[in-house]
Amino acid sequence: MRKKIVAGNWKMNHDLAQTEMFLVDLKKQVLPEEVTVMIAPAFTNLNHAFNSLREHPVTVAAQNMHQNNNGAFTGEVSAEMLKSLGVETVIIGHSERRAQFNETNEILSEKVKTAIANKMTVIFCVGEELEERKQNNHLKLIESQLTEGVFQQPETAWKNIVIAYEPVWAIGTGETATPQQAQEMHQHIRTVIANKYSKSTANDVSILYGGSVKPNNASEIFNQPDVDGGLIGGASLEVESFMKIVNAF
Ligand code: PGA
Repeated sequence: MRKKIVAGNWKMNHDLAQTEMFLVDLKKQVLPEEVTVMIAPAFTNLNHAFNSLREHPVTVAAQNMHQNNNGAFTGEVSAEMLKSLGVETVIIGHSERRAQFNETNEILSEKVKTAIANKMTVIFCVGEELEERKQNNHLKLIESQLTEGVFQQPETAWKNIVIAYEPVWAIGTGETATPQQAQEMHQHIRTVIANKYSKSTANDVSILYGGSVKPNNASEIFNQPDVDGGLIGGASLEVESFMKIVNAF
């Protein structure tokens, strides 16, 4: 079933004390029942966040994981390790991972495979650079990121896959896609999924928008028919702004 989701991607922000401060404040908030609220703290704070939120309807997600379940991969964290904490949701393919850590579609496809095999929910990110949009290549590019990254999965896996469309030029820049640009791409993503799998799978998948979503622009983006919520960076670091976005539907 298609869900409304607001997920906070904290990136490399908030140490343990800051995480705790956020959690104390978050737990005082009344969350709308129809929205799935997620936060993705750093690996070092996942255990604390997960345990702290046990009684609260907030999903704790990881920002990344390795494609192997264990082995000689110094500095990496596996799906099994995340699951052992209780963490069952993972962001895969964020553009910062693609650009700064050389994560190719091929590697991302392996990560998705491992996450799904471990019965995790995947938030799979796609997004084009400004140059690709200027060359009018953005629709094709997103299609190929989906084809190479997630279309190896059987249709049944899609109940555990969420797509996040994050135009690279809008991330952390203060520049957002217009609601029309977001809607065009989200509709395109749904069409591509329908062509590969089925209309019902395409209709059921939640597609989030990410890229400078703020309290003042969240509503108009979330109101688009094919936008099911957001993956929020900067504005997810403070409870006040995060909650405004959670309540923006
Ligand atoms: P931003 O980041 O909201 O700070 O632009 C979004 C993201 O990278 O997920």
